[in-house]
Amino acid sequence: MTNNLQEIERLKKEKNAVILAHNYQTRAIQEIADFTGDSLELCIKASKIKKADIVVFCGVDFMAETAALLNPHKKILIPDLNAECPMAHMLSAEDIKKAKQAYPDAAVVLYINTTAEAKSKADILCTSANAVEVAESLPHEQILFGPDRNLAWHVSQQTNKEIIPLPEQGHCYVHKMFNLGDLYFLSEKNLDAEILVHPECEPSVQKFADKVLSTGGMIHHVTQSLHKTFIIATEVDMTTRLERDHPDKTFIPALNEAICKNMKLHTLEKVKNCLLNEEFIVKTNENTKNAAKRAIKRMMDVSKNQNKMNKSIKEAVENG
Ligand code: 13P
Ligand code: SF4
Repeated sequence: MTNNLQEIERLKKEKNAVILAHNYQTRAIQEIADFTGDSLELCIKASKIKKADIVVFCGVDFMAETAALLNPHKKILIPDLNAECPMAHMLSAEDIKKAKQAYPDAAVVLYINTTAEAKSKADILCTSANAVEVAESLPHEQILFGPDRNLAWHVSQQTNKEIIPLPEQGHCYVHKMFNLGDLYFLSEKNLDAEILVHPECEPSVQKFADKVLSTGGMIHHVTQSLHKTFIIATEVDMTTRLERDHPDKTFIPALNEAICKNMKLHTLEKVKNCLLNEEFIVKTNENTKNAAKRAIKRMMDVSKNQNKMNKSIKEAVENG
């Protein structure tokens, strides 16, 4: 372990590399990463990397692919090529084509958890941190939204738009594990705890939550919440991330078995080998990359405008 850590640090310097990691990575990976965040934060970070020659991405395929699309002149590496998000493969470009024919007036909003080929057929992308803002930013009344039906449901509750899930049964196997009964039982045992739930959970679980948030949203919320204890309904290592940022607060995983085994394929040994051998290179497809990149950039513009608006509202409030 120590050898791996020392070797990773040495290789990072030698090769001018940075390591990005998603919030669901293990503590060991979170600790060696230069930046850890949610899908939107990682996307923004990837777009701003200027000085590094190599980016090692400890996350699942669609995240690394997004980083590659935003950094065409850098080497984007993933420590384990099998780290795929199954949900991202539940929606094909062909499904989108058929849905567009059935709903010609609808906009296509895709969750960033999709393949680059599917992304190239979207009007705009979103993450769980900005899905509602993205839907609101569009003039369309009808929105084809995929592939996560629970995030689609979450957006439908927050807007007046007609949200059509695409495909009907798109889901995440990890977030599907949470159920209302278990959460109710846990909340009865921890009456002071605030319940934070990811929007990939079933509607009944979302309805029971105090807050429905992306993983990055959970971190920001905990920073300003007066609560000391939190029940966290998302992948189990999210509590690791929260504990690192807030050692004075208590985080209870809603389910210890909620493990994304795809995210967990990355290990320190594989990160070391990845840097050493400069593999595995994340490739982008020539035919789809420009359209996919356009849909990502549109999403990032919505988030930028939203941040500017939040900043000016905050300033107006502070200045009276
Ligand atoms: P976040 O964008 O909230 O980190 O979610 C990504 C994800 O894959 C959740 O399962
Ligand atoms: Fe995909 Fe679910 Fe893993 Fe997130 S937790 S990467 S949605 S399988």
